[in-house]
Amino acid sequence: MRKVYHEVARLADIAPGKCLTARLDDGEECVVFRTRDDRVHATGPLCPHQNEPLDLGHLEGNEVICRRHHLRFDIRTGDCTNAGGYSLRVFEVKVEDGAILIGRWED
Ligand code: FES
Repeated sequence: MRKVYHEVARLADIAPGKCLTARLDDGEECVVFRTRDDRVHATGPLCPHQNEPLDLGHLEGNEVICRRHHLRFDIRTGDCTNAGGYSLRVFEVKVEDGAILIGRWED
């Protein structure tokens, strides 16, 4: 197993406080968030409550707020911060030369 990084977007494509949906190399989707203090995180694309797309949510600090029933998720950890029993998948992200890269273990 080795960690492999794939570019999913350019930092310039995402304004601070915004996000976009990107596709991983295997076709899986993720949402890439850029916080207002310029940190980048990536999560699974759907709210685990009732599958609302999280790119339609609102980013507040390090939390995305699902627009449907207002569950809040810490995009650094995936933890739901206002209800129990829900969590998001999070991906490892790094930014190099303006490229947003997601790292995953591959055989
Ligand atoms: S679908 Fe996201 S909070 Fe209900």
